[in-house]
Amino acid sequence: MGRALQPKDAELVASRLLDASARGSYDPHVDIDWDAPLAEGKAYMPLERVSLYGTDLWRGLSQEQRIELSKHEIASIASVGLWFEIVLMQLLVRHVYDLDPRSAHAQYALTEVGDETRHAIMFAKAITRFGAPAYGPVKLIHLLGKGYGALAGGPSMFGAVLVAEEATDRLQRATMDDPDMQPLIRMVNRIHVVEEARHVRFAREAVTRDVPKLNRAQLEAHRWLLALTAFGVMDAMINPRVYRSVGIDPRRGRAAALANPHHRDTRRWMTEKVMAFLTDAGLVGGPSKKVLQAAHLI
Ligand SMILES: [Fe+2]
Ligand SMILES: [Fe+2]
Repeated sequence: MGRALQPKDAELVASRLLDASARGSYDPHVDIDWDAPLAEGKAYMPLERVSLYGTDLWRGLSQEQRIELSKHEIASIASVGLWFEIVLMQLLVRHVYDLDPRSAHAQYALTEVGDETRHAIMFAKAITRFGAPAYGPVKLIHLLGKGYGALAGGPSMFGAVLVAEEATDRLQRATMDDPDMQPLIRMVNRIHVVEEARHVRFAREAVTRDVPKLNRAQLEAHRWLLALTAFGVMDAMINPRVYRSVGIDPRRGRAAALANPHHRDTRRWMTEKVMAFLTDAGLVGGPSKKVLQAAHLI
């Protein structure tokens, strides 16, 4: 195992993250101007990352429709992110339940719950501002999320959190510095990127520390759980109903997106860094890798 994966002292990491949280945390109520007018003609995410980019359906859309679809896709990603943050809050609260509340680790986990509470509100306000539906994941995934929040734990739980956080992070970083993007979504993304960097460190540290404690059978079980959760979350990000916003039948739009090499590339691009980390950490490997390949995540 490489030097970067040596477990660090959990208390030291957590206390540094607590300091960083005190220095740089945002309140979406006051830090974002929700009344500012939306900029006309600006996309909501890079158009080449929209799921239909490059397809025949895409060629049939006007520039206005492409921007409209970018708005609905980012609204879908935000609503699925928000749903996952609510699941994550449950996971973190259950994680803290058994910890010594005096520890920096417990206090940072509680701080992260606070961050995610504000993020969920921020994404909800953004979706409202865009006038888009709160798409969320499809029904089955919504139902599975309820069970996952109540039961999941251990390295695959932190691994799945990393997949969701790092994948959205990659897309948000690509949007936040681009002057051609809608200013409101750039600000939302900037706030999220700053605060998620801490969450990623916390979860990576937990994975690095806990994977080596697993026996062979446990490791395989966690690999399967991680692969299936990553598949479920990443596949849920674009709710097929988004295609209705530009007059495309949801089933037809989804089929075109799944067959679209650009969209497959986008999925792999979003999870590239986190999959490299999880492979190094040992959580990605063995027969369950086929699930991740089928989902175009590796
Ligand atoms: Fe978040
Ligand atoms: Fe987070």
